[in-house]
Amino acid sequence: MNIVTDMTINTRRKYFVNIFVFVIFLLLVIPVFAKIDNESIVDVSVPKLSEDEIKGEDLYNQYCISCHGLNASGKKGKGPPLIHKIYKPNHHSDMSFVSAIRYGVKSHHWPFGDMKPIPQITDKEAYKIIKYLRKLQRYNNIYVE
Ligand code: HEC
Repeated sequence: MNIVTDMTINTRRKYFVNIFVFVIFLLLVIPVFAKIDNESIVDVSVPKLSEDEIKGEDLYNQYCISCHGLNASGKKGKGPPLIHKIYKPNHHSDMSFVSAIRYGVKSHHWPFGDMKPIPQITDKEAYKIIKYLRKLQRYNNIYVE
């Protein structure tokens, strides 16, 4: 009789410990996601990426994410979303992306200030970043009709 009661108590204790751990996990994880989401300016859906596009994404995450945000969705107080109709190919060609990287950008569309040049990016790397951004744009219905 005693053994059964002990086991029940033990099982219950495990059950509560598990719930406790799970609640702590949620409390830690939810604010992290909420924070990322709060910084974005637009919603961006992410398609399956090719190997080259993943290289572009890595470079983007290294050089651009700090201002243009996760998946180029913009970052409040820092920089505009590049997955935005302003930046579709007939309004901002691939050359204007290269030029932004090479020579920087004087603020004209947004209230975030100027973008400084990023001279350490090679032309090859720039085109990988652009390929990745165009893929995100197309997937989010931003293209020349
Ligand atoms: C330090 C912040 C910062 C970083 C890092 C940054 N940008 Fe920008 N970028 C901006 C801001 C701010 C603007 C908006 C200027 C405006 O008001 O139009 C901008 C504008 C642009 C534009 C629009 C150019 C135009 O002709 O209007 C492109 C394209 C661009 N960025 C691409 C990139 C790419 C690609 C990277 C990474 C290689 C990058 N940016 C890194 C801040 C940044």
